[in-house]
Amino acid sequence: MPTAVSDAPGGSNRFAQRLFSPLPERYDRLAEVLSFGQNGRWRRALVDHVVEASPGLVLDVATGPAGVALQIAARTGARVVGVDVTEAMLRRARLNVGRAGARVHLALGRGEQLPFADGTFDAVTFTYLLRYVDDPAATVRELSRVVRPGGVLANLEFLVPSSRFWRFWWWGYTRLVLPLAGWATGGREWFDVGRFLGPNISSHYRRYPVAWTVEAWRDAGMVDVGVRPMSLGGGLVMWGTRAGA
Ligand SMILES: C[S@@+](CC[C@H](N)C(=O)[O-])C[C@H]1O[C@@H](n2cnc3c(N)ncnc32)[C@H](O)[C@@H]1O
Repeated sequence: MPTAVSDAPGGSNRFAQRLFSPLPERYDRLAEVLSFGQNGRWRRALVDHVVEASPGLVLDVATGPAGVALQIAARTGARVVGVDVTEAMLRRARLNVGRAGARVHLALGRGEQLPFADGTFDAVTFTYLLRYVDDPAATVRELSRVVRPGGVLANLEFLVPSSRFWRFWWWGYTRLVLPLAGWATGGREWFDVGRFLGPNISSHYRRYPVAWTVEAWRDAGMVDVGVRPMSLGGGLVMWGTRAGA
């Protein structure tokens, strides 16, 4: 298995590395705060799509401290590979995997250029990734490339609620509560993340609405693409099957 970033990281990769390097220690607890206590539920809904496919080999991209990878290993008989661009996140992931005694192999790598042959994996998951890449459509093509025909691609992301009423409360939560909750629970670094997240999610969906993303998945060779807004539209689980089985 590879252990090096597969090509020179670009500006967006360096941004992600700077943002995420100070965060691993308290990441899982704070991810719950940032998702209004919903991250665990969203993760389970994501992993349900992998479990259904009964995979033998799974790739989790942007694995962070390996929360999704560990859940896949626990709920399937699969061997799991976790890839992330931030070394500090992988250090935490190694600790978590070691403690769990799980079948998860970890490697430094970029979602934009994965060091695996076409069709290597029965299932590929990615979580909170596309807001950190320069070209989401090209990244989706790359993720789809490593799924075998008939295999599953599944994603979890934040979302902007479509209802005006809930969008109003979501806006207040992400712009006011998140930065303060970040500060109170994680200090300066998490204040920065809390302040960054809401505007980043809004601007991502202004450029790449959900309908655009569904088309990007289809153009990348995925069929039966499904979307499920979660928790009043604050989260989104997406899944699809690689064509050509
Ligand atoms: C919000 S964390 C999510 C971690 C994990 N998936 C989870 O749900 O707990 C986002 C992760 O994406 C990683 N990341 C950002 N850009 C990436 C890229 N281009 N390729 C691979 N990983 C990336 C960051 O290093 C960070 O660990």
